[in-house]
Amino acid sequence: MCGIVGAASSRNIVPVLVQGLQRLEYRGYDSCGVAVHAGGLTRTRTTSRVADLLTQVHDDQVEGLTGIAHTRWATHGAPVVHNAHPHFSYGPGEGPDSTKPPRVALVHNGIIENHEALRASLQARGYVFSSQTDTEVIAHLIDSHYDGDLFEAVKASVKQLHGAYAIAAICRDEPHRVIGARAGSPLILGVGADGTENFLASDAMALAGVTDQIVYLEEGDVVDLQPGKYWIVDRAHKPVARTVRTVQAHSGAAELGPYRHYMQKEIFEQPRAIGDTLEGVQGIVPELFDGVGQDGATGASAHRVFKAIDKVLILACGTSYYSGCAAKYWLEGIAKIPTQVEIASEYRYRDSVPDPKTLVVTITQSGETADTLAALKHARSLGMEHTLTICNVATSAMVRECKLAYITRAGVEIGVASTKAFTTQLAGLFLLTLALAQAKGRLSDADEARYLKEMRHLPVALQSVLALEPQLISWSEDFARKENALFLGRGLHYPIALEGALKLKEVTYIHAEAYAAGELKHGPLALVTSEMPVVAVAPNDALLEKLKSNLQEVRARGGVLYVLADRDTQIDSSEGIHVIRMPEHYGALSPLLHVVPLQLLAYHTACARGTDVDKPRNLAKSVTVE
Ligand code: G6P
Repeated sequence: MCGIVGAASSRNIVPVLVQGLQRLEYRGYDSCGVAVHAGGLTRTRTTSRVADLLTQVHDDQVEGLTGIAHTRWATHGAPVVHNAHPHFSYGPGEGPDSTKPPRVALVHNGIIENHEALRASLQARGYVFSSQTDTEVIAHLIDSHYDGDLFEAVKASVKQLHGAYAIAAICRDEPHRVIGARAGSPLILGVGADGTENFLASDAMALAGVTDQIVYLEEGDVVDLQPGKYWIVDRAHKPVARTVRTVQAHSGAAELGPYRHYMQKEIFEQPRAIGDTLEGVQGIVPELFDGVGQDGATGASAHRVFKAIDKVLILACGTSYYSGCAAKYWLEGIAKIPTQVEIASEYRYRDSVPDPKTLVVTITQSGETADTLAALKHARSLGMEHTLTICNVATSAMVRECKLAYITRAGVEIGVASTKAFTTQLAGLFLLTLALAQAKGRLSDADEARYLKEMRHLPVALQSVLALEPQLISWSEDFARKENALFLGRGLHYPIALEGALKLKEVTYIHAEAYAAGELKHGPLALVTSEMPVVAVAPNDALLEKLKSNLQEVRARGGVLYVLADRDTQIDSSEGIHVIRMPEHYGALSPLLHVVPLQLLAYHTACARGTDVDKPRNLAKSVTVE
């Protein structure tokens, strides 16, 4: 979703700004732009890719010491150039057609909920709007408060904003200053190495190779950046010192290696990612989940919390939600702990019955998803103080907000469709299940040893599943010609069917739905024809015979089946039934393995259809607005 980069420097900063945008491309965007102070304010905007923005600024010889840049993922107003950021304010009564130069340039990530009221009052004061965005309101608002000091104008403006924002602004009359502010959307400050420049960005990755000295701005902070100094005030506008952390961010952008797309690379990285995630896990100990501390201090103790709770509430969105759905089967089946899994955007607004003895578990690869953060806050506001996150970004807002944390080590995931982040979440959730089972006295030493052995086997098992790729390529040739697909699973593999359908729709734009196979005859069977491929996840578990009956129901209606069967499952390929045999039977950890062929199926079908695999239309990697 929207990405921000800003810089106040003593050198031409345009290359750093645009490279920063390139590193934020993975978040998803549909237009981009940059504004610099070059005598006055100038800007370049495009609905094309950041690479084209780079060509444009190069051809136009755009240079400046101070600037702001942005990738926009449209919310208010279509993805057209006049809605792209940066937005200008020319002052009341003036607009792009006037001879007066612009006074304020602004970029924004978030949603301003009171933008209509603000727009009306600014229009009444003579401000001319040239976009449909909520962002332009902030540019004019800052201009309306401007009296020679941009920092003061931003501080006065943010007081009037309702909603979520991270902003960066520059001003015609103060050529060496960038002002930033955040509430509800992420923004970091990068401290330049030699004391001659400072930066703003949506995440540390945007500044990889520029600086590793990072300040995570907190809710309500406003920051004044100049080349040799910076100054932060908190939400009450009192001066505040924030910790500077050394953050090794990797862009990952240059590492495509032998792969065609990041999605393919990330699917094939899963043995490594799971291996890294489990590295150092010698035994099941609650300390695996100890908090990393909100300000570098020692975090909360998982040992005490695991003993105290008697319920789990999982909050997440998208793929992360499906990993939570799978974990429910483990948490109730192995740890015997009642578990509720909620879509974060639903939970945050519904009436629910809180229980303070609940462990609230958020699952998020980015750690910045607005709805998941808001759902966590909602749970806390209801008195549920035991919070834990399974997250892939140790420095994210979510890790800072939760008392306990398990950091997965998937590494940076660039492809919008999540793959390795999902399987590493499952690994973290399985460990959490075992840790809770142990805390409740429900994990024998023998079971602990057996589960750990099975977990350590995962990287090897994943390699052998990845070797099935040629068979999935063959299936993808059939799927590429279809417009609909149905996915079936039962029990622990129902969430895997859901995730398989999500992957297919995200990257191929084929309409895909998943059902618990037992639900087939309650509706979806009506859709089954020879034009509707039906994927079945069929491990050799207690539900296999029931699943086989469901598959017969599909065949009897002329449906064509694509079955992921375990090695020892008695389902064979025949007319209308295509079977891929998984190399082993994986027991409780089976979801981590069965999802991989579904990822490969989606990926290769997308390649066959020629879609933009890593950046599917309309989707964003980091969903920082609700
Ligand atoms: C977006 C991404 C998905 C991700 C979801 C939740 O939709 O494209 O890959 O599953 O957000 O994101 P989170 O960072 O909270 O896991």
